[in-house]
Amino acid sequence: MECVAGTTLGEFIIRQQSAFPDATGELSTLLSSLQRAARVVNREINRAGISDVLGSMEQLNVQGEEQQKLDWFANERFKEALAARGEVCGLASEEEEGFVSFSPVNTRPGKYVVLIDPLDGSSNIDVNISIGTIFSIYRRVSPLDGPAQLEDFLQPGCKQVAAGYIIYGSSTMLVYSTGQGVNGFTLDPSLGSFFLSHPNMRIPERGRIYSINEGNYQDFPTGVKRFIKHCQEDSPEQGRPYSSRYIGSLVADFHRNLIKGGIYLYPPGTNLPDGKLRLLYEANPLAFLMEQAGGLATDGSTPLLQLQPRTLHQRTPCYLGSRYLMLQLMKTLVEA
Ligand code: AHG
Ligand code: MN
Ligand code: MN
Ligand code: MN
Repeated sequence: MECVAGTTLGEFIIRQQSAFPDATGELSTLLSSLQRAARVVNREINRAGISDVLGSMEQLNVQGEEQQKLDWFANERFKEALAARGEVCGLASEEEEGFVSFSPVNTRPGKYVVLIDPLDGSSNIDVNISIGTIFSIYRRVSPLDGPAQLEDFLQPGCKQVAAGYIIYGSSTMLVYSTGQGVNGFTLDPSLGSFFLSHPNMRIPERGRIYSINEGNYQDFPTGVKRFIKHCQEDSPEQGRPYSSRYIGSLVADFHRNLIKGGIYLYPPGTNLPDGKLRLLYEANPLAFLMEQAGGLATDGSTPLLQLQPRTLHQRTPCYLGSRYLMLQLMKTLVEA
């Protein structure tokens, strides 16, 4: 079905902004910059096999991971797009050791900072499986007339002004929230525009999917092991056993569970005492979306959005999902 009469992302952003008479339009411009960069990254991903963007940069990033060419490409495109307009005074990225300060554009100081996982699911880039971009936006807390400061980036997730992701999947979608629910937009590649396709996304209260890298089972805390056994037990009246689904791209696992209902788990382990996921670039923005969609998000004992970050690249155990499944998990963790 043609969607030419539908609402574009640009129109939607402006409509949302007009509900706030005091809004200056800077957040709207910032979101527009993100969608523009997303379209460029999307184009490159779509032709990855025929352009020279597959494979490794042959260097490690600050996370100690082998940086892929597309990790770098996406990082540069989002950085350029955000630096060019002036709404943002700085960016922190999974791919950069320290935060990057942007010079004011037309002497106008940027009010916002952006934290980004430019390319999520690096291990899936070369094998044509869904990957994503995750972003998180905060209002700066440092004085407007100076450069961005570390404290602007180390704010608890509950202070996010907006968060979202782009999923480069069988179709490309941008899903975001400014704290008034979650809305999803699908890119029409022939028109080059995102159209509202998933208004007011709500995660089902229950759900029958659990998503975890079970290869690490031996390493999981007892409570997580028990929860997995619970998911696998036969209980037709409760719809168990549940289905195990794990793509290994957080964005894709999250997106599926958001639509179908389910739970995502990345627990701590012996080698990774805080798990693998980064609080600022992965856990917090997705926790914001999850709560906005009616689900829950914790590190196992504290709501993720309440955690006070200490460092830019800090990791955290991460559990996100449907309310019913999350309450069951939390009960199991407490009892273990
Ligand atoms: P990134 O590609 O941004 O470094 O993120 C990788 C993350 C996330 O996308 C994924 O869910 C998780 O790593 C997978 O980890 P395991 O391979 O340990 O399951
Ligand atoms: Mn990475
Ligand atoms: Mn990631
Ligand atoms: Mn990444």
